[in-house]
Amino acid sequence: MTPFVNVDDFQQAARRHLPRIFADYIDGGAFSETTMRRNRADFERYAIRQLVLAPLDQTADLSVSTLGRRSALPFGPGPVGFLGLYRRDGDIRVARAAAKADIPFVLSTFSINGLETIRKDCGRTPDFQLYLDRDPQVNESHLAACREQGVERIFLTVDTAITSVRERDVRNGFRATDRMTPQLLWQFAKRPIWSLDLLRGGFPDVELVKGRPEFGKGALAQASKLSARLEKNLTWETVAELRRQWEGKLILKGISDPTDAERAARAGVDGIVLSNHGGRQLDHATSTFARLRDVRAALGPDLALYIDSGFRRGTDVVKALALGADFILMGRPFAWAVAADGERGVTQLVDLLREEIAITLNLAGLSSVAELKKAGASTLIDLSDKDA
Ligand SMILES: Cc1cc2nc3c(=O)[nH]c(=O)nc-3n(C[C@H](O)[C@H](O)[C@H](O)COP(=O)(O)O)c2cc1C
Repeated sequence: MTPFVNVDDFQQAARRHLPRIFADYIDGGAFSETTMRRNRADFERYAIRQLVLAPLDQTADLSVSTLGRRSALPFGPGPVGFLGLYRRDGDIRVARAAAKADIPFVLSTFSINGLETIRKDCGRTPDFQLYLDRDPQVNESHLAACREQGVERIFLTVDTAITSVRERDVRNGFRATDRMTPQLLWQFAKRPIWSLDLLRGGFPDVELVKGRPEFGKGALAQASKLSARLEKNLTWETVAELRRQWEGKLILKGISDPTDAERAARAGVDGIVLSNHGGRQLDHATSTFARLRDVRAALGPDLALYIDSGFRRGTDVVKALALGADFILMGRPFAWAVAADGERGVTQLVDLLREEIAITLNLAGLSSVAELKKAGASTLIDLSDKDA
């Protein structure tokens, strides 16, 4: 197998491994995919200053502390639904690789494997991403499970009350498909390695709702039922209510405007994820990176600022840390890596990005993420600034 040299290689390998319906579900964005492209393009707006002849520590310390918890690296996997459909036990494989790399893992509400399974396998409890259900009892049972398993932080996703249109999914019938069709069988037949790996022991279930007849049988049916049941009436009052109910750390995922960042700070949450869902929701929104400085200013210095959407390179991570982000989440890259080569793929992805970040820091005359954060925006050159 050719080695993985960068994140794009994992994407291509994932496409070779996966039936088209899943490869397109991961890769796609909303409507014309303009925001998805902007998420990549806007990193070009800043250059990194090259500084030489500084005394350097080449084993750069890349660790960060976010909301009182240390991570060996300033990036990690964001919540991605149905990882266990891209590779058998995909959630467990990503969680294991993350635990070994000493970085956090955020488990999606729409995961194939549940909290308890992950905790038992990895010997540590992941963070939990919460999608609110229309039925308050379902939400209470999520919170109860979080308490029982010792979850410390919940990421409440707030940008999906309305589901956007991803045209690739419409064409493939994703979500509309809740049973095997001849087209699907043909796609599976063209991916024998995926089929043998995944269909061994039967098509997986979403552990959270397994055995509950109202959700149907098998992850495809359960996925479409689960998304149809999402709470559409999400408001700041919903956030206030959850803040009252949940005593652990609460982070709002899907804030992208400074006005909303200010409101989040006033709502008493512990942090936000500056996210446009990887360009999968509001098409023609800005990239998250373009909003970072303003969102940090609105949020204030004390709340945790996670960011995601479009991060693929060590240089992207370095630029966001310089402009005030505390931690970078990545969605698709981890889905591609686990699809491409399971736990080993995820470990390779982490190693690659670690190296890219360390080299970038050193060439910018820096020895650690702590130094980078201290230098802040002075590390970068704003190319749109004519006086630069
Ligand atoms: C296949 C896929 C599934 C996702 N599932 C979830 C999810 O269950 N919950 C959630 O909050 N975000 C979900 N997201 C959004 C990611 O957490 C993240 O915001 C986004 O992928 C970041 O952009 P990137 O993929 O460019 O890194 C998903 C994204 C993808 C690509």
